Amino acid sequence: MKLLDAEFVQGFIRMANDGWEQGWHERNGGNLSYRVKPEEVTSVKENFEPKDWQPIGTSVPKLANEYFLVTGSGKYFRNVIIKPEDSICMIELDEKGENYRIVWGLVNGGRPTSELPSHLMNHEVKMLASGGAHRVIYHAHTTNVIALTFVLPLEDKVFTRELWEMATECPVVFPDGVGVVPWMVPGGRDIAVATSELMKKYDVAIWAHHGMFASGEDFDLTFGLMHTVEKSAEILVKMLSMQPQKRQTISPQNFRDLAVDFKVNLPEEFLYEK
Ligand code: 13P
Ligand code: ZN
Repeated sequence: MKLLDAEFVQGFIRMANDGWEQGWHERNGGNLSYRVKPEEVTSVKENFEPKDWQPIGTSVPKLANEYFLVTGSGKYFRNVIIKPEDSICMIELDEKGENYRIVWGLVNGGRPTSELPSHLMNHEVKMLASGGAHRVIYHAHTTNVIALTFVLPLEDKVFTRELWEMATECPVVFPDGVGVVPWMVPGGRDIAVATSELMKKYDVAIWAHHGMFASGEDFDLTFGLMHTVEKSAEILVKMLSMQPQKRQTISPQNFRDLAVDFKVNLPEEFLYEK
């Protein structure tokens, strides 16, 4: 099968374009990766032309020999749908999880996203925590969440609670809450370590003054998670713009009642009295 005809590749391309249409990917902003299933690798293997091995910049031993579909560094999300073979690539990891090589794509040269260490370290954590179910890691420059990182304290419990309060569906969609990484230099191992540490507990990590990372089982769930968090942030920005105080809101007891009916566990650490 031609690699571009594969359903998982089409799903990846559609998600990238959906993110572009949301306005989350100015210029080359954001990146996306998908841990490819073994049967999907087999179905497109005839297209592979392996290039040289390169260091990942960190070590992900639990991901040894895995394949990933990933956006290219400096590539624009708006171009993924019209020239995917130039914008994205498929990579293979070596038997130690320390090096990668491009096996398809980036036909005009280039390398995988500069955030590859963060993507792979998040994949490793989420794969282990979910028993292999999580396969998608998505980084987007979500406008409203970024705006909030200038006015809210950079604390997990504050971001979680404020985002939960803005839309009743939020605690059901991200019951574990969201983590916050303080401002750090992007693209390296340090921010990857800090983010993957938070991903042990959460499916969402906010990068102060930069954007967000989301993890999920498939393209729909991961895009939906990013979309839900950012929509909630948009409501909060609108609310704060009208007046800084809420006249009424969803109370801690309301959340507890919701948790019973929707059969989710909402940690008490987020249900503090203000
Ligand atoms: P890349 O173009 O290398 O993926 O970087 C974009 C980005 O958002 C960095 O955080
Ligand atoms: Zn970024």
